[in-house]
Amino acid sequence: MQQRSTHWRLILLSALVVFVIMLHTGQIALAGDQEAGAQLYQQRCASCHGKDGKGNTPIAQALNPKPRDHTEGAYMNALSKDHLTKVIKNGGSAVGLSPLMPPQADLNAEQIRQLVTFVRSLAVPAYKSN
Ligand code: HEC
Repeated sequence: MQQRSTHWRLILLSALVVFVIMLHTGQIALAGDQEAGAQLYQQRCASCHGKDGKGNTPIAQALNPKPRDHTEGAYMNALSKDHLTKVIKNGGSAVGLSPLMPPQADLNAEQIRQLVTFVRSLAVPAYKSN
């Protein structure tokens, strides 16, 4: 009896350790992407979309159509990852939107993915993957 419960405790403990390690590494990867994306966003996107993604910049006021408000979850969360990847990499005209949304042809796939992760993080209500 005594031996059996020790056995189970060991199994549970190992499972917990594995779980915590997975959670930890997963979170670090996610936070890293989001942070790298935030930096690129401040450099390349904030002039039009605003630091907060709401598009309340002087440049935005002059544009027609206006840069999309990235915090508008009701709209943004319905966009697929493929669409976001394409519009950021190839620009608005690649998806039938305004050509004033510029392409980022010099960025690699990882940097585009980081930007997508950051843009996703701005949405209210929060984006839920499924
Ligand atoms: C020169 C101004 C400008 C810059 C810089 C800019 N955008 Fe945009 N962006 C726009 C405009 C204008 C639109 C709206 C296009 C439309 O609705 O036709 C837009 C739309 C978008 C959309 C919404 C697409 C959709 O389906 O509605 C995303 C996502 C986006 N931009 C991401 C970015 C990211 C990420 C960057 C930085 C790498 C960036 N933009 C830089 C002007 C800009």
